[in-house]
Amino acid sequence: MTAQTMEELVSLCKRRGFLFQSNDIYGGIKGLYDYGPMGVEFKNNLKQAWWKSIVYERDDTEGLDASILSSPVVLKHSGHEDTFTDPLVDCRACKSRWRADQLFENNKCPNCKSEDLTDPRPFNLMFKTAIGPVDDGSSFAYLRPETCQQIFTNFKNILDSTSRTVPFGIAQMGKAFRNEITPRNFIFRVREFEQMELEFFVKPGTDDEWHEYWINKRIEWWVNQGIKKENLKKIEVEKNELAHYSKRTVDINYVFPHGEEELEGVANRTDFDLGSHTKNQNDFKITSEVMKNSSSTTKLAVQDLEEKKWYIPYVIEPSAGVDRGVLALLNEAYREENVDKDNKRILLSLKPHLSPIKAAVIPLKKNKEELVNLSKEIKSNLQKLGLGRVVLENSGNIGKNYRRHDEIGTPICLTVDFETLEDKSVTVRDRDTMKQERVSIENLSEYYKKYFN
Ligand code: GAP
Repeated sequence: MTAQTMEELVSLCKRRGFLFQSNDIYGGIKGLYDYGPMGVEFKNNLKQAWWKSIVYERDDTEGLDASILSSPVVLKHSGHEDTFTDPLVDCRACKSRWRADQLFENNKCPNCKSEDLTDPRPFNLMFKTAIGPVDDGSSFAYLRPETCQQIFTNFKNILDSTSRTVPFGIAQMGKAFRNEITPRNFIFRVREFEQMELEFFVKPGTDDEWHEYWINKRIEWWVNQGIKKENLKKIEVEKNELAHYSKRTVDINYVFPHGEEELEGVANRTDFDLGSHTKNQNDFKITSEVMKNSSSTTKLAVQDLEEKKWYIPYVIEPSAGVDRGVLALLNEAYREENVDKDNKRILLSLKPHLSPIKAAVIPLKKNKEELVNLSKEIKSNLQKLGLGRVVLENSGNIGKNYRRHDEIGTPICLTVDFETLEDKSVTVRDRDTMKQERVSIENLSEYYKKYFN
């Protein structure tokens, strides 16, 4: 079961501290959200799982954390200054603005139904900001619209500082910014979001095979995070809808509460980017359409040792949205169950490695010093194992604590009761089955580690 509506997720996220509308107390800003205490843990766990699978568990990748402020020259050569636009339509009657493809009803304003609309005009989605103390328009930067451009501009730095040879990849996670005309569907389309991108450099001619490899790898990864395979769709992007850099793109779509849409895109960007950022482009046979006369001082090429020739690698790019991942996984984990004939419960059946809280330690009575002290000690010992956040719940209301931890997806709750003082054991309650068992404190670390591995 998943959530039935987006409202169920929005309500749970606010109630339990996953997500809040940004600048809430002043009425909020559309397309911006803040991750609360549970949200930040969940998002970090998701990013960590990606980093682990893309960087730590492979022998052919490196990581990067580059600046967000980006030079206009880079974004000129990447094609973003000229082509990163959406068609914008203004309603003259109610002054609202729409993306032309969102005028569902025969060219009528979706807000006031007026037909008095402007012709579509291109609207660049990049945010601009001034660099330095003088804002005279001449020295400015963009907030990066995708994380990957700095991977391309650092290509040579990374080659020179490691011993990598093609095929190899560079991974980066972080913020990207787009001035979306109509942000919508909670955190699905927002103006500030995070991406997890891998640029995987390959020899031209091997690119089609590597592309297939990464499409399948990425679907497998999402399934390992807890998404049912049948809720993921592989969608071939139509030729006329491909981004300016792409030879072929396959989107991995997910069935979100508002409908099926893109969760991740896997593109074959050819030699477009490294080619565009390379000096003396005429030295290379670059197959894609590139910006001419790059002013870069660097040759972003590698040597084919057998053929003794320089060439510009092709790049396969799996690019996933962190926020869309958060939304998909929350939706996928959402359950509503009857506990008995009078009581229902909501739970998030998240994979334990993604759960914001790994375990809650609950003394049965809040002011009973021996119980509280022992609970603190157990919490501290589990925390030291370094598997994620463990909390102490000292309210004395077990029922309320179970409900809260079901809703935030805590896999286990440990209750320290009066018997504990005698038998040195705690009651462990499993989130999904609600089954309880006694585990001795002595064996707790082993039990806990096994649970999460
Ligand atoms: N570097 C390639 C690139 O940026 P994209 O398809 O524009 O490709 C990649 O974006 C991913 O980033 C998308 O699949 C989506 O998950 C996420 N994304 C893009 N725009 C977004 C937005 N406005 N809000 C939230 N996520 C977004």
